[in-house]
Formats: sequence, C-alpha cells, structure tokens
Amino acid sequence: MTVADASGRFPPGIDPSHVPAHVACVMDGNGRWASRRGLARTEGHAAGEEALFDAVEGALEIGISWLTMFAFSTENWRRPRDEVRYLMGFNESLLVRRRDELHDKGVRIRFAGRRDWRVPRRVLRRMDESVALTEANRRMTLTMAFNYGGRAEIVDAVRALVAAGTPASRIDEKAIRAHLYFPDLPDPDLVVRTSGEYRVSNFLLWQLAYSELVFTDVLWPDFRRQDLFEAVAEYQRRERRYGGVRS
Ligand code: IPE
Ligand code: IPE
Ligand code: MG
Repeated sequence: MTVADASGRFPPGIDPSHVPAHVACVMDGNGRWASRRGLARTEGHAAGEEALFDAVEGALEIGISWLTMFAFSTENWRRPRDEVRYLMGFNESLLVRRRDELHDKGVRIRFAGRRDWRVPRRVLRRMDESVALTEANRRMTLTMAFNYGGRAEIVDAVRALVAAGTPASRIDEKAIRAHLYFPDLPDPDLVVRTSGEYRVSNFLLWQLAYSELVFTDVLWPDFRRQDLFEAVAEYQRRERRYGGVRS
C-alpha cells in the first residue's frame, strides 16, 4: 500500500504507481556545511540528523520500502581521531534517542558493515538493541551502512564462500549475492548523492550495477524530503534498459 501525506494527497510530481522500492543515499557534505558557517565539522554531522529523519519520513510518505543510508565508510577511519570519535558517539546517541520513534513508525533498522575491533563495543550494543527492537517491523527497512565498504562486502562474501568449501565451478553471481551482508536487500533502484560530488566512494558496489544515480548540490544537512521527492521524480523520468533495447 502506498501512503499519502497528512492531507491524503500524494506529493505532486511523483507517479504513485512507479515509486522506487529501494533508495540508497550517500549523505555527504556535512563538513562543508559546517565550514561555511564557521562551525566545527562535527556540527555538520549533528545537523545531518534532521535531514536523515526528514528523509525517512518522506520515504514513508511515498511508500519506499527500503532505504539505505551511508553513515560511515571503511575509509572514514582516515579522518582525524576526534572526528571519528565524535561520529561513533553521535551514531550511538542517535540510536538511543531515535529508535523508539522509528519503531513506532514501523521501521525495521539494520546495519550493514564490518563489526571490527575499531567500532566501540557500546556502539555495537546499541546497534544490536535497535535491530532487536525493530526486527518484526515491515513498513520500511532502514539499513544504515556503518563501517561499510563495497569492496569489503565483496571480499567478505568471497571469504565466506571459500570457508564453506565452495568449489570454483559453483561460484556465480547468485552464490556471491547469497553471501552479501543482506542477501534479501534488493538492488537500489535509485542512489542519491548530495554535496555535488560525482562518485560512488565504495558504496554498494555489487548492488548498484544498474541503479539510477542522481546527484544534487544540496549539502546533506540541508536535505529535506522535498529533495528526495525531486530525486524520485528524476528517477521516474529515466528509462532503465539493463543492457537491452527499448521495449
Ligand atoms: C558526510 O559528510 C558524513 C560522513 C562521511 C560521515 P562529510 O563529513 O564527508 O562532509 P564533507 O564532504 O567533508 O563536506
Ligand atoms: C562517503 O562520503 C561516505 C559517507 C557518506 C558515509 P565521503 O565524504 O567519505 O567520500 P569521499 O571521501 O568524498 O569520496
Ligand atoms: Mg564527504
């Protein structure tokens, strides 16, 4: 079922019969948003919280079933130690403050990424609690890509196949997909990246083979559901061919 806004109307410009099932976002530009205001980069991350939750509400409003957000990459450990520490604590406190609200909205929370020693144990604990709290929800699945790298995910899938003794002749696309972090996660129909950067930065490398990419100059802390709706409208103007010809 598709859900309309409080007025009962669907946002204008969006075709309700053709809403992408899975939208993935690279939430980028927090640091620049802060620098332009003479603030510390961490203030930009804090300001990104409102954007994240407005995007979640917008996604719910138009009936997007899968939303995946890039929150911390396997390369983001290269940042200054204080910024990394801030991001870990921020993500932890965000879960504590917001998980009940997400649960009430029928959102299932999941985390994609490596649970390595660098992620503080208390952050892992909050992640596990949020997953357990919301695991029966089905209105929308919100996957937070955290300590996530697309290459790492493929490496982990291949390692799992080898560890299971899979013969080379049995390694095909289906086998690799079955060993990704969430085999049931559909490929994103639409990937949105903010802040005017035109790159993928190691996000969902396997899954985005045929995703439509939309780039916007909006910096993540300024992103609101209207920007999501514009990206969806742009997606709806695209023609997906998957290597075939126009039908
Ligand atoms: C995205 O914003 C948030 C994370 C990568 C954690 P940035 O922090 O990358 O912001 P810019 O790109 O430096 O402006
Ligand atoms: C990608 O943004 C990672 C996240 C949004 C979490 P980055 O800011 O880390 O990407 P680059 O360094 O500009 O490629
Ligand atoms: Mg960035």
